[in-house]
Amino acid sequence: MKLELVLNGKPVELDFEPQETLAEVLRNRCHLTGLKVSCEVQVCGACTALVDDLPVSACTYLAYEARGRRVTTIEGIGDGERLHPIQQAFLDEFAFQCGFCTPGMILAAKALLQESPEPTDAEVVSYMDGNLCRCTGYRPILKAIRRAAGLMRQQARERP
Ligand code: FES
Ligand code: FES
Repeated sequence: MKLELVLNGKPVELDFEPQETLAEVLRNRCHLTGLKVSCEVQVCGACTALVDDLPVSACTYLAYEARGRRVTTIEGIGDGERLHPIQQAFLDEFAFQCGFCTPGMILAAKALLQESPEPTDAEVVSYMDGNLCRCTGYRPILKAIRRAAGLMRQQARERP
């Protein structure tokens, strides 16, 4: 079957099998390996991708469901050579160790900050509760999301 979607801002058409998940298509057919797969049962959030700006667990989301939609992976959020403010904030706050959870964390945080540009800590914790990290601890991740929120608000103010 043919799958047409807008992937990281570009229209693409791919061959795929109807039973393939979005994670399989993104990793195996598009070679976007920033998206990780761990639990495969929609528990850990490592496979988070954005579909029309909302987070989905790509391990259980059929690629078929993404037809005609905008799909964003970690590879699509920076601006050329420049990191996205959330990526920068994760670096600045040392909010990762092995990095396995980080692409999913950053994409979930992006969706959160789009919906709520100045979230409370409680909102962040609640929104991010589907994204698990086994090694960093959640405090630096919370600080990074807070920092990213500030950076993004500042950028929005400076935009002409
Ligand atoms: S791999 Fe998809 S939620 Fe864990
Ligand atoms: S940084 Fe290792 S699982 Fe989160």
